[in-house]
Amino acid sequence: MAKLYLIGTGPGSSDYLTVAAVKATKSVDVLVGSQRALDLFPDFRGEVLVLQAKNMDEMMKKSVSLVDGGKTVAILSTGDPGFSGVLKPILKLRDDLDLEVVPGISSLQLAAAKLQVPWDEVNLLTLHGKGNSDVILDCLDNGKVTIVLPDFRVEKLAQFLLENDVDPKRKIAVCERLSYPDERVFTGTVKELASMEFNYLCVMVVY
Ligand SMILES: C[S@@+](CC[C@H](N)C(=O)[O-])C[C@H]1O[C@@H](n2cnc3c(N)ncnc32)[C@H](O)[C@@H]1O
Repeated sequence: MAKLYLIGTGPGSSDYLTVAAVKATKSVDVLVGSQRALDLFPDFRGEVLVLQAKNMDEMMKKSVSLVDGGKTVAILSTGDPGFSGVLKPILKLRDDLDLEVVPGISSLQLAAAKLQVPWDEVNLLTLHGKGNSDVILDCLDNGKVTIVLPDFRVEKLAQFLLENDVDPKRKIAVCERLSYPDERVFTGTVKELASMEFNYLCVMVVY
């Protein structure tokens, strides 16, 4: 039966790939995902479609039309599909598909674990694709730790916070390339972060 899977593949390393994710990919005809997600399934022998920021909409539509044509398709979503992942755009596109979501370990969860932050009472935010927005300013002073996926560059987000009168000495942490061999965790102040450089794969925590 044709079906669409949305499969969370974790933050990057196969150490954080679930058995359920691996099992689900074994039953599909087509695997759709970013190159770093596809690299986690080197033994997959079906059709492969590479997802890029610029062809996201096209690939979502193509995946749905393949399912309509009788194929079983899996869209890989790094981290968890439900947080800043592919679940929202797919539901916007169609809500009548035979759909199964296989959860993955989010980069937010791994950041919380690395920094030993209990995440049941934090502000969880994504600015991904939205620019540096006031959304973050609205929650910084509610007494909770904020865990945020920045929009592309974490140092630009720090500069935005400084421009908006956030205390330059406010404590922050950046978790870069979590689970990869070159993973880096920086803890310091907003001011220090504003003049540093990080890879685009970062989670930021504001204390
Ligand atoms: C489109 S969002 C997807 C988030 C994903 N669904 C999740 O649950 O982690 C991509 C952003 O997630 C963050 N991210 C994903 N993998 C990461 C990693 N290994 N280390 C740090 N941040 C990561 C980065 O902020 C990246 O720009």
